Amino acid sequence: MNRYIIHTFGCQMNKHDSERMAGLLESHGYTAARSDDEADVIVFNTCAVRETADDRMYGQVASLKAIKTGGRPDVIIAVGGCVGQRDGEEMLRRLPHVDVVFGTHNIADLPSLIEAAAAGRPTARVLDGTEAFASDLPTVREHPWHAWVPITVGCDNHCAYCIVPAVRGPERSRVFEDIVAEVSGLVAEGVLEVTLLGQNVNSYGRDRYGQPRFAELLRAVAHTGIPRIRFATSHPKDLSDDTIDALASVPSLMPYLHLPVQHGSNAILAAMNRRYTRENYFERIDRLRGAVPGIALSTDIIVGFPGETDEDFEQTMGLVNRVGFDHAFTFIYSPREGTPAASLTETVPREVSQMRFDRLAELVRDLSFASNRRAVGRVDQCLIEGASRRDPRVLSARTPHNRLVHVPVPVDRSASLYAGSIQPIRITGAHPWFLTGEFASGAV
Ligand code: SAH
Ligand code: SF4
Ligand code: F3S
Repeated sequence: MNRYIIHTFGCQMNKHDSERMAGLLESHGYTAARSDDEADVIVFNTCAVRETADDRMYGQVASLKAIKTGGRPDVIIAVGGCVGQRDGEEMLRRLPHVDVVFGTHNIADLPSLIEAAAAGRPTARVLDGTEAFASDLPTVREHPWHAWVPITVGCDNHCAYCIVPAVRGPERSRVFEDIVAEVSGLVAEGVLEVTLLGQNVNSYGRDRYGQPRFAELLRAVAHTGIPRIRFATSHPKDLSDDTIDALASVPSLMPYLHLPVQHGSNAILAAMNRRYTRENYFERIDRLRGAVPGIALSTDIIVGFPGETDEDFEQTMGLVNRVGFDHAFTFIYSPREGTPAASLTETVPREVSQMRFDRLAELVRDLSFASNRRAVGRVDQCLIEGASRRDPRVLSARTPHNRLVHVPVPVDRSASLYAGSIQPIRITGAHPWFLTGEFASGAV
């Protein structure tokens, strides 16, 4: 029997692409395996955004050699995604036990590449770009009630540190009607939440002259009747008043925005080619909060970009403090070959970056804890995602503000009864990274 397993690294776009790879493989007669040992085909969908992810992936793929030398030489190992796109044939040279390398633009080739490898022809095939969206391929969704819906692919922003434009190609928007039709179909299937995806999601339509832009798309998607809409990732420079108005007036748009700021110092923001200032960012946040009181905000921050001084870093701390993010994803700068920042020479010593990073992480934890404490006492309609990973008698749920809540499964009930339903949950306790809650009256 042909069984497959997919290991996914990186961002939500990769999660979406993995669902399409699974759909493709199943439409070619493969079934899902639970572990590498059971699988005939092992796929890695990879991320190149930081060295750590890159290295870890190379390490894991390298260690799979043992499966082949340990008596299962016919297992096919396929590496796709952003590292596949970047390294192409080079990967076959570095890791001779890899059978297939494919890129971000040719997911549809996966079954035929596997077939060729099974017939004894290991292949690397990577395209420079394509007009097709992976959303046209069959899918196996991780959760039946949630769907990723790419609305743009690629990125034209060329932030100085970032490899994404090189591995995902230029920004392209999907046809408006196709997106709306896809979401209508998802509603008919009973999907409760969509996440509209793009590297720079809120610049949707910029490449389609005279076509509707992002805010209009949000309204059209809401019009399909989908209960919940989220979107990621927004760029501060493209956050329009129209989008803020949509967030304020469309009830199915969840009151949560991920708005990566990356840095708090104008000098570093300019060096990063982010094309806004800290003042611009504050202005957008003030406007958002005025329009959508209580909106939850998260961000991405890079520490240790070349040339970052102590004063620059203090500007980041000050910005994070002033905005009071509900959550932040923090990263130590990682030089990526081929990006403009990789050639900057004023590098920050690792120990300095680490010390700054630790201070920032502590602030982020305090802010997240404070945000969670403010949520205690609320009753929110939460989407139950299923049993928590740690304890089968505890459900994981998401509040509209995207906070994670752990809720005990009622006695005599099964967790699976609740998975994929929206229930009123009373928030009873706060921890730094999650909340605890209970079913409020009205729950089924
Ligand atoms: N398009 C999205 C996601 C980009 S990757 C966006 O613009 O937000 C996710 C995050 O990784 C980025 O927001 C950035 O904070 C971080 N990142 C990207 N390149 C990096 C690098 N070279 N070193 C460290 N962090 C990086
Ligand atoms: Fe990378 Fe910047 Fe594009 Fe995000 S907006 S993907 S950080 S280049
Ligand atoms: Fe990583 Fe590629 Fe996403 S580099 S962050 S998986 S677009």
